[in-house]
Amino acid sequence: MPTLMKYSVSIGTIFAVGVILHLCYVGFNGDYGLKGEAGVIRNPIAGSKARSNLLDVYNETLGFQDIFVVSLPERSDKRDAISVQAALTNISFTLEEAILSADVAKKARPYGMEMEGAEVGCWRSHLNVMQNMVRNRIQSVLILEDDADWDVAIKPQMHQFARGTRWLLDIPENAPSRSPYGDGWDVLWIGHCSMHSHDQDKRRFVIPNDPTVHPPDKRDMMLLPDMSPWEHDGPDANNKTRVMFQSAYGFCSAAWAISLAGAEKIIYELSMKPFDTAIDNGVGGICGLKKHNATCIAPFPPLVGVSKPAGSLDKGSDIRVEGDAADIREKATSERVVFSARLNIDRLLNGSTEFESLYPESTGQFMSLKDIGSAVGHGEWVDRLNW
Ligand SMILES: *[C@@H]1O[C@H](CO)[C@@H](O)[C@H](O)[C@H]1NC(C)=O
Ligand SMILES: *[C@@H]1O[C@H](CO)[C@@H](O)[C@H](O)[C@H]1NC(C)=O
Ligand SMILES: *[C@@H]1O[C@H](CO)[C@@H](O)[C@H](O)[C@H]1NC(C)=O
Ligand SMILES: *[C@@H]1O[C@H](CO)[C@@H](O)[C@H](O)[C@H]1NC(C)=O
Ligand SMILES: *[C@@H]1O[C@H](CO)[C@@H](O)[C@H](O)[C@H]1NC(C)=O
Repeated sequence: MPTLMKYSVSIGTIFAVGVILHLCYVGFNGDYGLKGEAGVIRNPIAGSKARSNLLDVYNETLGFQDIFVVSLPERSDKRDAISVQAALTNISFTLEEAILSADVAKKARPYGMEMEGAEVGCWRSHLNVMQNMVRNRIQSVLILEDDADWDVAIKPQMHQFARGTRWLLDIPENAPSRSPYGDGWDVLWIGHCSMHSHDQDKRRFVIPNDPTVHPPDKRDMMLLPDMSPWEHDGPDANNKTRVMFQSAYGFCSAAWAISLAGAEKIIYELSMKPFDTAIDNGVGGICGLKKHNATCIAPFPPLVGVSKPAGSLDKGSDIRVEGDAADIREKATSERVVFSARLNIDRLLNGSTEFESLYPESTGQFMSLKDIGSAVGHGEWVDRLNW
């Protein structure tokens, strides 16, 4: 049984397994979800009338000091798409020129880095943003990869997410803090493709009836947190629950927010010390082992997914080979989002307030912006997750 096996081995072994899983991503279909029943104690956060900077999440940089989009200079197509998508969802960003692996000098790579291929350039491009943060004392940055896609209601979603990060960080909603998301976090991993929780922390910020949660049978992920208390047990069970928790190992870096403290820890661990794996594995290791007391928080399912444009299959990822260049995707699609901004550009352009779902069987074909962003979360302690 994967569950038992997983927790009887050392955390180092889990990391090693994670590395292997990462490399075998394509075609691996194992179920690493944790199953079991759970007793749930509901503990809603008391509402507060006091004002704090919580609502800064609605600003153009989603409450972060800046947003950087990492993009290779030659991918003008991806820059076109993410620029329009961001503008129409009222988000602005700074472009970070990604670099090719060939441009990362061998001498500049960490001791022991044998990894080759596009992942070297990806590692370095993310680290360049973080180095910039450290040099310029930028307090927080959301880093997006250029194929990132999000739901049209990303701002109300980030509002609930910020309530959740504050709850998990033990910071009242009305308390002053530097970041609307609270202070003391290192990584907010909002655009992953696999995520695990820290087993010793039973707290979950739970957002039920959230139309932006994609259906369980569409989650092709290797590591999942235990969702059974919300999806299987009791009369309220439904498949539209998003939970937030202190995160451990994760994969994919479509979107993550990094704090200044987080940037310092990541650069130290992934560049100054011996290091030899992809950036998401490296950050997952820091989160999983809580190196330097790193505090990472993730939603599950993620808030940011990836778009897959129409045309040759190799237009998608600049990291992984995703099929033959000769294979054609006839129609653009997106993964891990429901009311995709990129797929609703027609409607964003013509001022429509109704948007089309990727999963009509679960949400109905159309929904208003207001309803898409209507879910509200609360804190819970989950007693008996079956670790
Ligand atoms: C958004 O809010 C954050 C946090 O208060 C702030 O640092 C950032 O400058 C704001 N962005 C814009 C575009 O005003
Ligand atoms: C963007 O801002 C405009 C003006 O405030 C608003 O009408 C529109 O609904 C916003 N779009 C989205 C997708 O949030
Ligand atoms: C570790 O981080 C947590 C959460 O940010 C904080 O409450 C705690 O004081 C930190 N511990 C140390 C030893 O820094
Ligand atoms: C949730 O989805 C799973 C399949 O992915 C299904 O077996 C289950 O019945 C669904 N639960 C509810 C409450 O709809
Ligand atoms: C906006 O565009 C969509 C998709 O093309 C169309 O179905 C809808 O009727 C248009 N709405 C308005 C108000 O023009």
